[in-house]
Amino acid sequence: MIDGIDGLEGVVAAETVLSDVDGLAGRLVIRGHSLDELAGRTTYEEAARLLLDGFFDDLPEDLAPVLGAARAEVFAEVAALDDRLARLPPTEAMRALTARLPDGDDLATALRLIAAPAVFSAAVLRRRAGEAPVAPDPTLRQAADILRMLRGRAPSEAEAAALDTYLVTVCDHGLNASTFTARVIASTHAGLTSAILGGIGALKGPLHGGAPGPVIEMLDGIGSPANARAWIEAALDRGDRLMGFGHRVYKVRDPRADALKRAVRALGEGSNALPGRLAFAEAVEQAALAILKDRKPDRSLQTNVEFYTALLLEALAFPPSAFTCAFAMGRVAGWVAHAREARAGRLIRPQSRYVGPWPKAAA
Ligand code: ACO
Repeated sequence: MIDGIDGLEGVVAAETVLSDVDGLAGRLVIRGHSLDELAGRTTYEEAARLLLDGFFDDLPEDLAPVLGAARAEVFAEVAALDDRLARLPPTEAMRALTARLPDGDDLATALRLIAAPAVFSAAVLRRRAGEAPVAPDPTLRQAADILRMLRGRAPSEAEAAALDTYLVTVCDHGLNASTFTARVIASTHAGLTSAILGGIGALKGPLHGGAPGPVIEMLDGIGSPANARAWIEAALDRGDRLMGFGHRVYKVRDPRADALKRAVRALGEGSNALPGRLAFAEAVEQAALAILKDRKPDRSLQTNVEFYTALLLEALAFPPSAFTCAFAMGRVAGWVAHAREARAGRLIRPQSRYVGPWPKAAA
């Protein structure tokens, strides 16, 4: 291991105008706005516009109509969703459909890509449930249309608002693994579609965007607050990691966890079951934090975005197998903006230190 850069921790590998993650203050800034200013107050279209501003000459003031049209356009690719693709895990099927889109660096390509995870994931989930995919309604905003395409009926305003909050909360986050991947690909001038496919590939791993599904498995495994401590201790004794806890950068609480917890609470106001589920999750969270503090006193392992993501997406009836797809629906705007920014810079090509054997000297 090269001293000090295991996993590139602490290495500054890019300059960006897009977002700043302050791990010690527990603060996320996106283009000059704190997450608290944006989450719950901004639509996904507005957040995406904020991110894309300055990266396309022809960017319209209001992204909603052009993004709606892009959803309708990419829906044509759903015809390629055959049984073989539909049997793949949803993230892989969504990735495969996204791969059918042409590469390019223009605004039309960008909009198609920002629409793609939403449209393709909804179609894949419908197909897996034995139902026909629902075509997008370009007049709706993206959050409401996602829920409509998933369920075949219009969501309540509160549900659409909760998903909007989620999409905005995860739209960008500094140089996380998937964004870094997208930037590397974009720096080769391969095109936005290639960059976004790389982002989806990196996001899917359980150490990155694949964690919220296992959060539900953990909650279901625990079952009741009384069982939390014993279940968590046993999991850690086995060497398992607790999904939804710990972060490479945040050494205090992940501000996205708070934004999403507020969104779950707001959604719960109109529901019978959700407040109980939230109280249970909070009890598990408290037990997990206390045990992690006990076991790893020199690490500051806090709740990360994935814990309350799981509760929010579960409340919106997303199956856990599709939580990573939902993450991609939001993060794709950040990937596109980062890809445009990286394309304007130099090829990203670091070096490695060879530690393998050398050829034997010729006799
Ligand atoms: N549960 C138990 N122990 C943990 C956890 C956890 N969730 N997270 C870190 N640790 C421990 C490690 O075992 C390690 O202990 P050691 O020093 O005794 O070996 C120490 O804390 C540091 O762990 P690292 O792997 O070095 O931390 P890193 O910065 O590489 O990893 C990560 C961060 C991958 C998020 C990690 O905390 C983790 O695996 N969490 C669970 C998965 C998860 O929630 N992922 C979503 C992250 S948020 C996002 O990407 C959107």
